[in-house]
Amino acid sequence: MNSKLITLDGPSGVGKTTIGKKLAYDLNLDFISSGMLYRAIASHFDIKGVNSFNEIQLTSKEPITFVIDGETYTEKLLYSSKINEKSSEIAQQIEIRQIVSNVLRFLFESSSNGLVVEGRDMGSVVFQDADLKIYLDASESTRSKRRLAQSGSKESIEDLRNRDLRDINRKNSPLVVPEDALVIDNENMTIEDVIKKIKENLKLQ
Ligand code: DC
Repeated sequence: MNSKLITLDGPSGVGKTTIGKKLAYDLNLDFISSGMLYRAIASHFDIKGVNSFNEIQLTSKEPITFVIDGETYTEKLLYSSKINEKSSEIAQQIEIRQIVSNVLRFLFESSSNGLVVEGRDMGSVVFQDADLKIYLDASESTRSKRRLAQSGSKESIEDLRNRDLRDINRKNSPLVVPEDALVIDNENMTIEDVIKKIKENLKLQ
């Protein structure tokens, strides 16, 4: 198999999804957001009042849409304050993480050219053999502003900080900088700058 695999990890609101989508488009790769998978599962649990499910499928890549036990979850509806919180909570459970990892590996295996995948543990746990691992970072205030622009629903700096703390301090697959990752502090960089830097590093390989 000659598939490219690029992982993007980092804290909330750092631009992983925006950058990942554009990068994947430019390189003719598939894109998947593991955060959206956790969010879709959290929405399902919330709406249905359940804490498990039988089947999850990716039914559209743009907009990213999942169907969980017959219910449809589209990316635009996954960014409420409630789901910000609940997705981070359920992501602590090892069984849920295992399911998400399996779905992601399956999506990589079925992609024709390869995958750009974003999350918290993509390079450190799920795809340790990725061709290129990126860790994106920026200050809390910048990330909070970007999250607002992305979702329209305000996530205060305090809420963002608490969510990051939970994601960093949890026992199972916490947010870490993968050992062999290229760290990009994008505080003062445009999306295009970041993409250019990633492409330069791909060429060096
Ligand atoms: O990237 P995001 O804000 O859409 O992610 C929502 C939550 O999902 C995040 O707070 C923690 C969890 N998550 C995770 O634990 N591991 C990932 N690889 C991606 C997301």
